[in-house]
Amino acid sequence: MCRNLSKYTLIFLFIALSVIIFLFRNINSFENWNCHTISALYQLQSRIQTSFNPVSLPTFYQNRSFCSHLGQRPSAEDELEERYLLDSILWPVSSHQPWHLPLRLTTDPGHSLFAILPSKSGRKWHLGDQLEALVQVHDFQGRPKHYGGDFLLARLHSPEQGAGVAGTVLDHKNGFYSAKFPLLWTGSAQVEITLVHSSEAVTVLQRLREERSDRVFFKSLFRLGFLSETTVCNLCLPPDQQPLCNYTDLHTGEPWFCYKPKMLGCDTRVNHAKGGYLKHLITNNEALLFQSGVNLKVYIHASGPDRITVLPPLKDNVQIESDTQYPEPAKIGPSGYYYEDRWKPVNGFQIRQFNDSANVTQCLRNKMIYMYGDSTVRQWFEYLTDLAPDIKEFNLHSPKNVGPFMAVDSAHNILLKYRCHGPPIRFTTVMSSELRYISNELDGLTGSPNTVVVLSIWAHFSTFPVEVYIRRLRHVRRAVLRLLDRAPGTMVVVRTANLQALDQEVSLFNSDWFSLQLDQVLRAMFKGLNVLVIDAWQMTQAHHLPHALHPPPAIVKNMVDMLLSYICPEKKSHIK
Ligand SMILES: *[C@@H]1O[C@H](CO)[C@@H](O)[C@H](O)[C@H]1NC(C)=O
Ligand SMILES: *[C@@H]1O[C@H](CO)[C@@H](O)[C@H](O)[C@H]1NC(C)=O
Ligand SMILES: *[C@@H]1O[C@H](CO)[C@@H](O)[C@H](O)[C@H]1NC(C)=O
Ligand SMILES: *[C@@H]1O[C@H](CO)[C@@H](O)[C@H](O)[C@H]1NC(C)=O
Repeated sequence: MCRNLSKYTLIFLFIALSVIIFLFRNINSFENWNCHTISALYQLQSRIQTSFNPVSLPTFYQNRSFCSHLGQRPSAEDELEERYLLDSILWPVSSHQPWHLPLRLTTDPGHSLFAILPSKSGRKWHLGDQLEALVQVHDFQGRPKHYGGDFLLARLHSPEQGAGVAGTVLDHKNGFYSAKFPLLWTGSAQVEITLVHSSEAVTVLQRLREERSDRVFFKSLFRLGFLSETTVCNLCLPPDQQPLCNYTDLHTGEPWFCYKPKMLGCDTRVNHAKGGYLKHLITNNEALLFQSGVNLKVYIHASGPDRITVLPPLKDNVQIESDTQYPEPAKIGPSGYYYEDRWKPVNGFQIRQFNDSANVTQCLRNKMIYMYGDSTVRQWFEYLTDLAPDIKEFNLHSPKNVGPFMAVDSAHNILLKYRCHGPPIRFTTVMSSELRYISNELDGLTGSPNTVVVLSIWAHFSTFPVEVYIRRLRHVRRAVLRLLDRAPGTMVVVRTANLQALDQEVSLFNSDWFSLQLDQVLRAMFKGLNVLVIDAWQMTQAHHLPHALHPPPAIVKNMVDMLLSYICPEKKSHIK
């Protein structure tokens, strides 16, 4: 009896569902239905289709001008800067199309080698000298390659001394690369060369960046009463497929669009969220270029010794070689190095250690610290509130990991805030009311010598053409300049991009190669401004711990110590 009942229930449900689905397919012809009926139907539909259906995603191949030239036209001056920036990050591309090039002819770190070149002064190295290693890349057949474009990282380090420094890599565009390091500590120093991507892999990434900025997609929920719909959103959407909702920011002109929901108006948007990552972006042949342990972040071995001993400086050679050794200042020499696991900027900036709560609260007394950006600066917020429990997180009932967050220490009059940057933020779900552009937020700050602004903007821009990032930073930079003009003494700190763990999947969306290019733009755009740049890139590259999107606490400590040392330099506390 019971069995029969459940059988009939199922059949009934099936028929009911079929009717509902039929109704939906033909919803346009039922528009004279009263609103309640339609609401109820939609509610049911959203229960049936509980999960967002990515099958309906638009697939489109954009060209460079499509996505990057949306929004307000840049001024002639801005266009000039943009061209300069794009030229400065131009990557030497191989003329070989990787989809024509079999794997055996591409760069193989296993067959590639490096050698430490003899020192200038004979056979010995001294503190302050420069060490140079020559890398020659080979293909999988062991044949030397004759063009450049491989993405290499170089590091000189000494595990015994907790020391490490990032090297400068020079591409000779003929299969040879030079890696140069200043010798900044005495004792042993070991060279480490890593192939992050072959030049052929970089060509694939470059194509994805220009043509497939839809490879991460976004979605928004629209809701009114019982009605709710979810549609696809992005910085640019093919305009011819469906009507759009235009959420272009009126102050900055930053573009953002969603497909218009069928039933609801554009003003019923409730939230914004990461939709997902497209699959099948590359051919099987191209996929071979992104193999962990084969040609993706793999060490290149030395043909001879890979380490040297650095002696104390010679009496007549104490002057540390400086400018001459880095012919391309835009591509930066080391900004610092680790010694005993502590970061030491080469410009002499003294980093103090803030080990306990009392140290932090003493430093931040009377300060308001505003952190804006992605999760890599949210990490600093979390680190600070963990380290100094007196700065108590105030419960704003914000979604976990999304924010906004606020922490307060009323005894010491400390306010600490975090807010994520605007779209294309790739967080789980941000309420529409909390979606803000950093430049608009900065315009809303009064600023003062007690105000600290910390910015981290990079990770969520890697799937877009670089122009998109330049435009965003241009808006942020203008707002920073306005803030510094109206409130001189306001402290502004910029955190750069950092290296992360890569596999094939991560590479296509977030490769270090994308980050490197954005990072160079970031540095160039904030150069010469009265802001402190914290070099997360080199701080993750020079450290012995594995690369991670969210660097481990040992590295975050160095970054936050640098931030706090900027806010509270040594001298001030002596006066107190
Ligand atoms: C790129 O796209 C824009 C807008 O869709 C179009 O006007 C332009 O002709 C395209 N350019 C090329 C080179 O395909
Ligand atoms: C979107 O809105 C902005 C600002 O109102 C406007 O300048 C732009 O032309 C609109 N874009 C589209 C594609 O409708
Ligand atoms: C801070 O802690 C580190 C170890 O975590 C220690 O080596 C260092 O001496 C401490 N610094 C101060 C100023 O207490
Ligand atoms: C941290 O606090 C200790 C004692 O509370 C003090 O000796 C030390 O100098 C402080 N360090 C900093 C960096 O303020």
